[in-house]
Amino acid sequence: MLGKLMRKKTAEPDRLLAEEIASVKSRHIPAHVAIIMDGNGRWAKKRNLPRIAGHHEGMKTVRKISRIASDMGIKVLTLYAFSTENWKRPKLEIDFLMKLPGEFLSTYLPELIEQNVKVEMIGNFELLPSHTKNSIQRAIDATAENDGMTLNFAMNYGSRLELIQCMQEIAKLAAEGKIDPSEIDESLIESHLMTSHLPEPDLLIRTSGEVRLSNFMLWQLAYAEFSFTDVLWPDFDEQCMVSEIKEFQTRVRRFGSVEGDGNT
Ligand code: FPP
Repeated sequence: MLGKLMRKKTAEPDRLLAEEIASVKSRHIPAHVAIIMDGNGRWAKKRNLPRIAGHHEGMKTVRKISRIASDMGIKVLTLYAFSTENWKRPKLEIDFLMKLPGEFLSTYLPELIEQNVKVEMIGNFELLPSHTKNSIQRAIDATAENDGMTLNFAMNYGSRLELIQCMQEIAKLAAEGKIDPSEIDESLIESHLMTSHLPEPDLLIRTSGEVRLSNFMLWQLAYAEFSFTDVLWPDFDEQCMVSEIKEFQTRVRRFGSVEGDGNT
């Protein structure tokens, strides 16, 4: 009897969520959602826990949000997991953050494969510790043939560094006479970014109430819709994600024109 009641208690929110997902899917879904996952430290502090406990909880949110994003039909989910500036953090915290991809992928890789998710990474791969590189590479290889949602981790990523590398590559082509400087246009620049194979983000979400970009996808976010929520990343759940997409669906995107693109 108790089991039956408990099942009923959890089945109702599941059904409501499924209905919400179906409703959201009947309208325009953003192809690419990028998230600055912020607030892990504050989540832990509120509970008198060490900061790393917040990051660990944040990892569980990564699982929840990846799953619902894939269910909603989002094609690319980019998650800012570690920035080029995060090396300034205490060593203990950095070491913990570098172990999280390994823990996440060793626990959830089968689930990601079942969901047909393709794991990718942007950022400076070579400078990561070898155990981090190995787990990410294993997941990339194991999901390379999947054609569902791309789960793109921005790891040791910094947009300025990405743009510097892009400019260096293009300058080299010009110096070698392979291109004329007049040929440098948006599409050439995009082809030298780490996201060259991805659509640009339609929606950027940042959690925890901070309202800044923190060196994240500065070129790619030129026409994205922005959403800043006070919810701390470990508390950001499926309902929050559905609400974000619903809110996105009310936005009229003009891309510099006077006509909206009919986002709804
Ligand atoms: C910012 O919050 C968060 C980070 C720098 C790390 C984000 C990493 C995760 C959410 C886990 C990643 C999981 C995988 C699988 C790679 P903060 O520490 O700056 O929070 P605060 O502003 O409250 O101190």
